[in-house]
Amino acid sequence: MVASPRIVAADPPGIARAAELLCAGKLVAFPTETVYGLGADGFSAAAVERIFRAKGRPAANPLILHVASREMAASVCSAIDEDAARLMERFWPGPLSIVLPRAPGVPAVVSAGLATVAVRMPAHEVALSLVRACGRPLAAPSANSSGRPSPTLARHVLDDLGDRIDAILDGGPCRVGIESTVLDATRRPFRVLRPGGATVEAIEDVLGYRPEPAVDGSLASSPGTRFRHYRPTCRVRIFAPGAPPAPSGRDGVVVIGAPAPPCRLAVSLASPEELARRLYALFREADEAGVETLYVEAPGDEGIGRALRDRLTRAASEED
Ligand code: TXA
Ligand code: MG
Repeated sequence: MVASPRIVAADPPGIARAAELLCAGKLVAFPTETVYGLGADGFSAAAVERIFRAKGRPAANPLILHVASREMAASVCSAIDEDAARLMERFWPGPLSIVLPRAPGVPAVVSAGLATVAVRMPAHEVALSLVRACGRPLAAPSANSSGRPSPTLARHVLDDLGDRIDAILDGGPCRVGIESTVLDATRRPFRVLRPGGATVEAIEDVLGYRPEPAVDGSLASSPGTRFRHYRPTCRVRIFAPGAPPAPSGRDGVVVIGAPAPPCRLAVSLASPEELARRLYALFREADEAGVETLYVEAPGDEGIGRALRDRLTRAASEED
């Protein structure tokens, strides 16, 4: 197979080319430690609008700005209080997006018209080099088409958006595998809008209190969580540790720390972290293999387990 010309190696010439495209208002997908992002110049309303069109993303769902320094973060929010600054110190670069008051220079379309903006510094050398080469923040949602699982490989981006974007920087598989934690720091107490790669336990360590959980479906919650998400085409069912189902030959089973019963897609993983890393790729593999029902072990609510349970519960929900 000939590689698509849209897939670019994430080496210095590839990153320089990607930065040129972004500065010209184009769309470039790039790797982060969580999932691949679909980047555009965060200061260009026209480029950001292109992201919404390419993904088929509802206009009411705001984007995260990706920065490469604390100074760049300060340039996109109008205030960073002491607690937010301590979270940046502890978690950045890393999988924590912090919602802060939006600076006047940031186009409203980035935040879907909200007075706030989500900001994060990704822990991936390619993402950081790209933002530095552009010299400005990159707006980037996950680089899937809206409603599909987030991409954790360049090929996933190609499958979803290949003909709608200008380049994909290939940085190999994402290390964390599920999206960043989104934390609302514009209200007291702080509130987790979306559990993710940064655990509430670690956030509590810094704040001295546990941030409130999201109020699901409410307007106060992360607008993105109201939309259909994280789901393969096949049916998803979750099961408790130690209670695997008896699958039919057309089903798939994903087990942590034990062998998987024989079936169409039998997967045995070492840990919840490995489940996070592979979950979205397994969703896609299940669809490619024609799996009818994918049974996935839901780990406990501690650490990364909280974010996994959130994604799995949404994937297993019959609602749209
Ligand atoms: O790990 C990640 O966060 C990845 C990588 C690429 O950085 N990005 C990502 O973006 O998952 P996206 O657009 O798929 O999800 C962003 C989430 C959505 O639920 C959105 O509603 C929420 O963040 N969000 C963004 N800005 C917000 C704001 N100003 N207020 C409340 N929620 C916000
Ligand atoms: Mg997304």
